[in-house]
Amino acid sequence: MATILADERVKSVDVAGLIKAAAAKTDQYLREFVQSRAGCPQVLRDSIEYSLLGPGKRIRPVLAMLTAQAVGGSSADALPAAGALELIHCFSLVHDDLPAMDNDDLRRGRPTNHKVYGDAVAILAGDAMNTMAFELLAEKVADPRRCSLLVLELAGATGSGGMIGGQILDTCHPTDKPGDHATSLEKLQRIHRMKTGALINAACRMGAISAGADAAMLVDIDTLGHAIGLAFQIVDDLLDVTSSDQQMGKRTGKDAAIGKLTYPSLLGLDETRRHLARQQEIAAGILHKLGERAADLAAVVHMLANREH
Ligand code: IPE
Ligand code: IPE
Ligand code: MG
Ligand code: MG
Ligand code: MG
Repeated sequence: MATILADERVKSVDVAGLIKAAAAKTDQYLREFVQSRAGCPQVLRDSIEYSLLGPGKRIRPVLAMLTAQAVGGSSADALPAAGALELIHCFSLVHDDLPAMDNDDLRRGRPTNHKVYGDAVAILAGDAMNTMAFELLAEKVADPRRCSLLVLELAGATGSGGMIGGQILDTCHPTDKPGDHATSLEKLQRIHRMKTGALINAACRMGAISAGADAAMLVDIDTLGHAIGLAFQIVDDLLDVTSSDQQMGKRTGKDAAIGKLTYPSLLGLDETRRHLARQQEIAAGILHKLGERAADLAAVVHMLANREH
């Protein structure tokens, strides 16, 4: 964290402005893509657009686009990856909120998808966004090798060893024995790395691949992506304790109420913040190594650790 904060380049970046611009490009790209799908029943289209184009932060697209820039490409190189990542993310949110999972009624300051469209449509909209993500990559990435690399990254980060596997562990973890601290921390990190970290890491990796990064560069980007991903879910856990429904646009205080294994529940707030700072230091080391062209990415990483929603 210290390295990022001390970096003068970060202070001069208009983070809000660059996130807004990247988000607007992604939204336009996704709007056109969804509208160009022939044969999609109207209620499915409405349900998809409600979640996909609703007021989210678009952090995964932003990370993909700025990582492309950080490795020497342009942010536009990563637009297909950005769109595909947001499709998977929105699919994960719609399903995460379902009664059988977290049973939430508020998301991004509005009723959750299933509260508006019903459980059946919400399940199917999630399914459709999952397949659309891969359809988008196959349709938009002209280079066959790059396309297959991107599909592989996204499938791995989404599937049984990524987000979906993590959601299983998060939803079905057996109660820990009191005092079983080390095992619990290991388990918690595994859940967080899978349910949230995998897709955020994929955002960084897919951004880099979209810009033609080589294997050595991808090793650094992987370290960076893992650190950003774990930090992101640590902050999400923290905000569930310290923030309000209104500020977050989703229900807070729920993790404790339903007995979720989280950083604050296991370690308390101070130790949780130390773990967050450690991930920030790891990220800062790689961002420093990437140099000047990673200034925008560094500014976003700093913002994510200090975000309030
Ligand atoms: C929320 O993700 C779910 C987690 C993985 C913690 P975001 O905080 O990125 O949600 P939106 O897209 O901004 O609503
Ligand atoms: C969700 O984690 C991770 C996903 C894969 C969607 P949470 O259940 O903590 O996310 P929120 O707090 O509902 O956004
Ligand atoms: Mg959940
Ligand atoms: Mg949830
Ligand atoms: Mg949460």
